[in-house]
Amino acid sequence: MGKYYITTPIYYPSGKLHIGNAYTTVAADTVARFKRIMGDDVFFLTGTDEHGLKIQQKAQEAGKPPKQYVDEIVEGIVKLWDVLNISYDKFIRTTDQYHVDAVSDIIERLRQNGDIYKDEYEGWYCTPCETFWTKTQLGEKTVCPDCGRAVQQAKEESYFFKMSKYQDRLIEHIESNPEFIQPASRRNEMLSFIKSGLEDLCISRTTFDWGIKVPFDKKHVVYVWLDALTNYITALGYPENTELFKTYWPANVHLVGKDIVRFHTVIWPSILMALNIELPKQVFAHGWLLLDGGKMSKSRGNVVDPIVLAGKYGADAVRYYVLREVAFGSDGNFSNELMINRINSDLANDLGNLVSRTVAMVEKYFASNVVGGGEDTEVDISLKELALETGEKSSDEINKLMLSNALESIWKFVSRTNKYIDETTPWILAKDDAQKPRLQQVMYNLCESIRLISAYIQPFMPHTAAEIHKQINNDSVDRCWSNNGEFTVKKGNVLFPRIDLEKELSELENITV
Ligand code: ME8
Ligand code: MG
Repeated sequence: MGKYYITTPIYYPSGKLHIGNAYTTVAADTVARFKRIMGDDVFFLTGTDEHGLKIQQKAQEAGKPPKQYVDEIVEGIVKLWDVLNISYDKFIRTTDQYHVDAVSDIIERLRQNGDIYKDEYEGWYCTPCETFWTKTQLGEKTVCPDCGRAVQQAKEESYFFKMSKYQDRLIEHIESNPEFIQPASRRNEMLSFIKSGLEDLCISRTTFDWGIKVPFDKKHVVYVWLDALTNYITALGYPENTELFKTYWPANVHLVGKDIVRFHTVIWPSILMALNIELPKQVFAHGWLLLDGGKMSKSRGNVVDPIVLAGKYGADAVRYYVLREVAFGSDGNFSNELMINRINSDLANDLGNLVSRTVAMVEKYFASNVVGGGEDTEVDISLKELALETGEKSSDEINKLMLSNALESIWKFVSRTNKYIDETTPWILAKDDAQKPRLQQVMYNLCESIRLISAYIQPFMPHTAAEIHKQINNDSVDRCWSNNGEFTVKKGNVLFPRIDLEKELSELENITV
């Protein structure tokens, strides 16, 4: 049994989370569930990034003390993960005292290591991204190269981390560990960024105070990205050499959006090198969910609320849609229409009908009970072959974080199983008593196929898998085909009711978030 440590970014509680944020977490949850099913000892971390100028400003606008402001939003985030069935092992908040203490300790260690010095920062700052920009990086413009919003001038006394010192080691690490940054396009981007020359990093601010104090100079607060990135080890108990830390570090994968790859592949590994800690095995960057071609974001006011969607169509439909629609690693469009069409075609039609037709036929033709062990014909053998192939292929794809491909593979098998019904025509077999054994074998093969489908979809759609298990009275997630099993079926809830597209679209349009 291996260990597997997977993380999501910790989210800014600067407003309600949207479907784009949920996307990262649903993906991480799917992988975590899959690894657990495969027998790994999994630790799945998520949480919130609560300090910094952006949060302080938001709290001010809301007329609340920052801690009260974030407490309220974090409550909503915890609820969202509940609704979406997120099976995290730990939720870290950067305002948790153990984290605050650990960050002070880390800063102290960096200083003792000779990696921190005091100087004056003069440049620009993007508050929504919490990013420093130099004049050279900005060129003529005064907007953030990442998000396009206006940057503010900053000139203040600051502590700096000697990041430039780690440039060569970092390049060497990235070049000799092709798995470290994935997908490869991101690795190349980061390599050329680092090779163009790393500057030292400003790691403290004095113009606001919502942050962790620099232990040796209390008028400074720690730069929020340094505070945030260290969550991946403080959550395990670092700097104490705890069991958790010894067991799970280094992380197997930090799952992040492409907007924050640079922080995770430049700043984070440099800090770890300075602390003499092993680097995570992988940083995997997924793309964005776009709305009308642009990035979904709170400030554009174009966010989609996952709580609304999950309330209307169920958590599993939302989980399925985001993971199926977009190739993991690329950008993809989100639209209510695309989502409803997919739910109707893939979930209501393909999967839902397969299960309800099969259960209904077993009830009707065999008083709800079928046993295996009959003779297989060519069409049965080809069904079984694809069943097993699908298990291997989709596992392999999940292991490579190709989540949309994995769902595509599983749905090929769902379609194949539907086609099997058309090919074997059970309703005709049922008319002839002499065909009873054949009919039973067909029904058995269908039940076994459905059992495997539910095993395959379990990490993606845990609730649906459980519902199917109930209807076929079998909750085995074994990925082998059993020839001699038995099923006692029982009709249950409709898995995915068909959605009236026009009606829902107008309803969704009238919801403002
Ligand atoms: O960046 N599509 O937090 P955050 C897909 N606190 N994913 C999206 C998205 C979209 N339209 N919009 C956001 C932060 N995301 C920092 C992280 S980690 C030490 C600190 C996802 O709340 C994407 O993964 O702004 C992004 O990286 C993450 O939400 C967190 O966004
Ligand atoms: Mg962001």
